[in-house]
Amino acid sequence: MEIDSNDFNEKKSQSFNEISYLWQTLNSFLSYEEFSIKKIEEEEKNISGLIIKYGKHLNLKKFEEKFQKIKHAIKLNSQILHFIAEPYLMKFEIPENFTPYSNEYQVSRIRSIFRIIMRDWSEDGKIERDQSYSLIVQKLNEYFPDQQKRNEIKVLVPGCGLGRLPFEIAYNGYFCEGNDFSLQLLLTSSMIINTKVEKVNQFSIFPYLHETSNTIKNEDRLKEVKFPDIDTFQISNEKFSICGGDFIEVYRNQQNQWDCVVTCFFIDTAHVIYNYIEIIWEILKPNGIWINFGPLQYHWADLPGETSLEISYEELKEFSISLGFNFQFETFTSCSYTSCPNSMLQYTYNSSFFVCSKKY
Ligand SMILES: C[S@@+](CC[C@H](N)C(=O)[O-])C[C@H]1O[C@@H](n2cnc3c(N)ncnc32)[C@H](O)[C@@H]1O
Repeated sequence: MEIDSNDFNEKKSQSFNEISYLWQTLNSFLSYEEFSIKKIEEEEKNISGLIIKYGKHLNLKKFEEKFQKIKHAIKLNSQILHFIAEPYLMKFEIPENFTPYSNEYQVSRIRSIFRIIMRDWSEDGKIERDQSYSLIVQKLNEYFPDQQKRNEIKVLVPGCGLGRLPFEIAYNGYFCEGNDFSLQLLLTSSMIINTKVEKVNQFSIFPYLHETSNTIKNEDRLKEVKFPDIDTFQISNEKFSICGGDFIEVYRNQQNQWDCVVTCFFIDTAHVIYNYIEIIWEILKPNGIWINFGPLQYHWADLPGETSLEISYEELKEFSISLGFNFQFETFTSCSYTSCPNSMLQYTYNSSFFVCSKKY
């Protein structure tokens, strides 16, 4: 999967020069270590501040060891981020007048990437993938049982994150295109998918390092997760690709082109969910199917100045039927999302899972 400068059209970047936006993103990858070490030093400072009062009750050696291990793990996480960024640092010149700048918010987005790598490309993520991706692929295969003909079936997965779901769909014989607009995720998925590893599970990350709440044991934060759990070179570029850009902008003119659109934890990222459903309807071929999986955890809800239409599942369904969708399968099922297995906090979604076809 090749990422070029045409892919840098994340919605938020439109006011930026695209290469500056790339550099901004790369800079946030490179700033992870500095910002994260600073945060750990704050944790250390909080403990140091309590030595006079509670020193004799605190196992200072154990704290010191913990902080040393966390700092070491931050450095290892950072090495992965450098590995992701390096090809672009070499390929694209730094724009004139570009001032590198990162803030805690940008770096927090980078930290979340480790959990998404865990979900999509590690053995640890298999539990979550079985709760969602496997059910979707199983349903898709029920609709297209003839394996020999699957390479004629075009499947689109908008909002595909790090790309495991489109990979699995292609692995099952379909032509599959993923789409995402996050440049951070596009650069990361490109590294995972395009690096010919010597063996599976070649790389290590520490996805739970930055969880300071709800930790039971120190070692839970320090859990090492290996990736990728599968050789991504098994699937050729002709069958599987990821297209960068905003779903509406990229696909709005692709009427009647797709046999199936698969949305997983995606439709609630819309400002106006009806816009997404309308585009899905338009880009499907007659009798094409839409498979949806996920909650309605509206991403823009409560964000000042942002439009956010927050309709119920019932309203979503009424709109879809009125547009011309025929609901053929519908259920609700439990699943988690990038969860930390040993945390005292566990979120479980009662996720909607449906299949509907485009009537004509
Ligand atoms: C909650 S994540 C789900 C990722 C993946 N489908 C999964 O199940 O893990 C939503 C994804 O949609 C992407 N996204 C949000 N709005 C988008 C848009 N308008 N166009 C393309 N991708 C978008 C985000 O970058 C993110 O990767």
